[in-house]
Amino acid sequence: MKSIGILTAGGDSPGLNAAIRAIGKAALESGMQVIGFRDGFRGLMENRTVRLRSDALSGILTVGGTVLGTSRDKPHKMPVGSKTLDMREAMVDTYQKHHLDVLICLGGGGTQKNAYRLLDNGLNIVTLPKTIDNDVYGTDVTFGFDTALVIATEAIDRLHSTAHSHHRIIVVEIMGHNAGWLALGAGIAGGSDVILIPEIPYDIEVVAKAINRRSRAGKNFSIVAVSEGAMSKEDAKVLNKARDKIEKAKDKAEKSKAKAALTELEAQHVGNTLRLTRHLEELTGLESRLTILGHLQRGGTPSAADRLLATRLGTACIDFIKEGKSGIMVAARGEGAEALPLEQVVGKRKVVPLDHPWIDAARRVGTSLGE
Ligand code: F6P
Repeated sequence: MKSIGILTAGGDSPGLNAAIRAIGKAALESGMQVIGFRDGFRGLMENRTVRLRSDALSGILTVGGTVLGTSRDKPHKMPVGSKTLDMREAMVDTYQKHHLDVLICLGGGGTQKNAYRLLDNGLNIVTLPKTIDNDVYGTDVTFGFDTALVIATEAIDRLHSTAHSHHRIIVVEIMGHNAGWLALGAGIAGGSDVILIPEIPYDIEVVAKAINRRSRAGKNFSIVAVSEGAMSKEDAKVLNKARDKIEKAKDKAEKSKAKAALTELEAQHVGNTLRLTRHLEELTGLESRLTILGHLQRGGTPSAADRLLATRLGTACIDFIKEGKSGIMVAARGEGAEALPLEQVVGKRKVVPLDHPWIDAARRVGTSLGE
């Protein structure tokens, strides 16, 4: 009898339980044993488990979050007491103790990388792509994205009526890390007047001009959808220079110094959307307010599309395991699924291409992208 382990790692995302249920049910139906590890790679290290029998898999399809718990802990850099240690060997021990044939890791870009690190230690690994950011390389889409898109779109719809009533600018900050999928998608679907994404560094004067143009046309309110990673042209230049320094570092010491400088710059970016809101008020003379959607976008029941995607990928995952595949990510491809070698996924990020049809569509309905 085959034994499989499952863990969920990184930020939680709607659809995780639907995926756990699909993997579990398809595995049990194929005569496999299923064990869950709590709180991501930490639970694997500490051997904290939950046996996923049929009753544990019932009633979780529509539930948000992850019944297994999650964490952002990395196998090779695990905080243990006052130290940060490489705990991969402890994870191999747990894997062997349970006589696992495969470990399935559900997560975003960071999890793909962490799971890949365990491949080197001889574990059979299969991953699934989840994140509201939709930025995992190699898959058409990630589960969690559609739900967050629906939540952010509804928020923009609701902000419209209050912005209109008060003749205000309402700036809405949308998650997505360094990718603009969520802000662009929700911004278009919600009819935002301005959409700012990390892929297109903005010029605030251009944004203010677009808002003033609306005022002159009698529409003295505006909705500005801002991706949390969006930045001005000036900031983007400084950040890209810092990233370049990491790439070109000649030795380890130089690299870690360059990385520390980048972390410092990224920390300074926190609060950027509030500064942008105040600046737009100054430039346009329109009263401005900021709404940060934050973790609301990750909470609650998954959309139908995410339940469907997670169920599709979860069951395909068991098919690939039955075929003896490992070292793969189960990528969404059209209506089906593809077993993509993990080495083709790690270290890359799927950002919005500048020639993406969503960008063209936004421009053609008169949305300013701050260019
Ligand atoms: O990756 C998902 C995500 O929600 C990002 O959009 C966001 O930048 C980040 O996680 C927030 O992380 P945390 O939940 O650790 O604050």
